[in-house]
Amino acid sequence: MSGEGPALDGLGTVYLVGAGPGDPELLTLKAHRLLRECDALVHDSLVPKALLDLVRPDCERHFVGKRRGHHSVPQPTTNAVLLELAGRHRTVVRLKGGDPFLFGRGGEEAAYLASRGVPVQVVPGVTAGIAAPAYAGIPVTHRRAGSSVTFVTGHEEIDKGRSGVDWQGLARSSDGLVIYMGLHNLRHICLELAAGGLDPATPAAVIQQGTVLGQRLLVATLADLADQVEAQGFASPSIVVVGPVVAQRVADCAPPLADTEMPLPF
Ligand SMILES: C[S@@+](CC[C@H](N)C(=O)[O-])C[C@H]1O[C@@H](n2cnc3c(N)ncnc32)[C@H](O)[C@@H]1O
Repeated sequence: MSGEGPALDGLGTVYLVGAGPGDPELLTLKAHRLLRECDALVHDSLVPKALLDLVRPDCERHFVGKRRGHHSVPQPTTNAVLLELAGRHRTVVRLKGGDPFLFGRGGEEAAYLASRGVPVQVVPGVTAGIAAPAYAGIPVTHRRAGSSVTFVTGHEEIDKGRSGVDWQGLARSSDGLVIYMGLHNLRHICLELAAGGLDPATPAAVIQQGTVLGQRLLVATLADLADQVEAQGFASPSIVVVGPVVAQRVADCAPPLADTEMPLPF
């Protein structure tokens, strides 16, 4: 496949590709092939540098993530970049951290492109909510400790000025919680879960920068999680796991961390 010249009958295909959580070896074979083939690459912050190096030297690259001291590129701008690239290139890769359809706005981008007649395909990725706990030895389900798990964003209420998540309901309905973007709101979330009836002694963990060399792990209880996170200076990107599964941790099964540079969101 070549990226030379427009040479398109119609529009090129945009692939919404999951980059995985950080360890480049967690990239799928399909994602690897597309990165090597693509004529244009559009990526954001939580993407390991090693993956960006897979593209051809003549691949047109666009960064649409958050830079230090700046807001993220607005979604309409990213949409417009993808549309414009599909008009000039046969294969466009939109690379997103983890899985593109899990808290990644992949659904919005797919709908936008499809509504404008752009062929679009999703390539699922390994999500941080499973991989980061796994690289700390924590299974997110366990026959004796958790038959259900909920993937939930802790960020939503910041945007909306009020909670869009029924934390008290989740405390009663899900054995385990995997919380993305949860650190800013962690104290509130823990209080809500306790108010919903979750035992304050419930094990909880935070995994920062999972799967790569900077990975840090904190194990606490629901009652002291927020204090511990503050005291130990945990920061984004972090996954929070709440539930009895945390106590099923098998430290020995955690794989070696990948020695790769992962740009952090600022
Ligand atoms: C916008 S969401 C994107 C999630 C992504 N689509 C996925 O499936 O993993 C970004 C959040 O994912 C989590 N995250 C992503 N990569 C991570 C990593 N390597 N370690 C810990 N948390 C990570 C953090 O909660 C971060 O704030």
